[in-house]
Amino acid sequence: MAKVSPGVGPRFPQVVVLFGATGDLARRKLLPGLYHLATSGFIPACRIVGVSLDELDADGFRQAARSALDEFGKRKPTDTSWQAFAQGLDYVPLSAGAQALKAAVERAEASIGAECRRLHYLSVPPSAALSAVQLLGQAGLVERSRIVMEKPFGTDLASAVTLNRQLHGVFAEDQIFRIDHFLGKEPAQNILAFRFANGLFEPIWNRNFIDHVQIDVPETLGLGQRSAFYEQTGAYRDMVVTHLFQILAFMAMEPPTALEPAPISEEKNKVFRSMLPIRPSDVVRGQYNGYREEPGVDAESETETFIALKCFIDNWRWAGVPFFLRTGKRLAEGQRIISIAFREPPKSMFPAGSGVGAQGPDHLTFDLADASKMSLSFYGKRPGPGMRLDKLSLQFAMHDTGMQDDVLEAYERLILDAMRGDHTLFNTAEGIERLWQVSIPLLESPPPVRLYPAGSWGPKSIHQLIAPHAWRLPFERAWRKPNQLGG
Ligand code: BG6
Repeated sequence: MAKVSPGVGPRFPQVVVLFGATGDLARRKLLPGLYHLATSGFIPACRIVGVSLDELDADGFRQAARSALDEFGKRKPTDTSWQAFAQGLDYVPLSAGAQALKAAVERAEASIGAECRRLHYLSVPPSAALSAVQLLGQAGLVERSRIVMEKPFGTDLASAVTLNRQLHGVFAEDQIFRIDHFLGKEPAQNILAFRFANGLFEPIWNRNFIDHVQIDVPETLGLGQRSAFYEQTGAYRDMVVTHLFQILAFMAMEPPTALEPAPISEEKNKVFRSMLPIRPSDVVRGQYNGYREEPGVDAESETETFIALKCFIDNWRWAGVPFFLRTGKRLAEGQRIISIAFREPPKSMFPAGSGVGAQGPDHLTFDLADASKMSLSFYGKRPGPGMRLDKLSLQFAMHDTGMQDDVLEAYERLILDAMRGDHTLFNTAEGIERLWQVSIPLLESPPPVRLYPAGSWGPKSIHQLIAPHAWRLPFERAWRKPNQLGG
């Protein structure tokens, strides 16, 4: 269990109004995360009011929450901690309206004292976000509140601009937290530490030394219960315009003047401003065989379950360096990596057949799994006569540090930050609108979806997209096992 350090949590008790309380994200991540935060001392006190279309009462919601914790929670509830948590759960169906919601929040507040704050978490699709915001406005629940907006934020530039404008009609910007859970992943923040806490890497972090970058997030998962959401969303809106571009910004941004929300957002937004519009000819869209037969999916659906693309950041540091992004459902492996390929040396003096360059360029690889890993690969001499070269690597695995249990799950970290009012790891309206703007050519003229077999790495044309380079995944050499020495 993560250690609770002083000052990491909010000062005030919290009432969480959870929209989409019976949905997939709430079940998998938000309820287990809130349970952990509430029962481990991170929050002084916490009450949760669930809201959704389902006609449940508080007991029905407690049962749904319990089954979510049993199925998805990493820490199984004990009787005592469950009782304490369950007591703090209440539920209001959307159909009950603003006054019923207000009454439930006031009941919750009365049970934890007047000095409390509200966190409204909108775990709903973009089409439902605005009506939830308006309901909160009508219920008079804006004061002492912060609001977390789930991605995708809008579905294109026009809808994001409208959503921002209407949101600002109810909440002030400093109350709004546009979440991207990839930025709450410990290894994503470690990119900032790696780049800016060390003198060694930043001097080579540019077009003079880096040949290309891959951000590759294949998933073995399918749709689960989410076909209705996914049909309207697809892989680009679900993953790229949100998570992958955010990770790209951490990887590519200039050093911020301080590790604070405004300077970090400013540097990320500069990356987005420098991004060239996405050309449809640089994009491969795919759909796994069988997707159209899934329940809730249109028999002629053109929604992509896979996307790979090439994009460019046209600034002083990165001009001409391609960034290759890939993600999709039902692929061969579940991985989340950033791989940075360094330029090869200008001349090889090694004899023919030495093996130099045979296994690709030197790479720096970040694994964004919770148990994060990093690897720097390079050519080194194989012992013995002659000059045979092998690919070797220096590897770091969080497992080896013994600190693995201190890792907070991404949503937990971000919920705590939002409760504390810390915007550092959240997105701004400007950044999101710019990302929709660079997406216009692709959204207006998407290339046709190509079918791919479930369990593969996507449509065949992904190889043309990246040529003359090659996708790092699947890895030729596996990560070293924790605590295991050797190459
Ligand atoms: C979510 C997407 O935001 O991220 C899902 O909606 C995806 O489709 C998920 O599976 C991946 O997140 P993680 O943390 O499991 O890598």
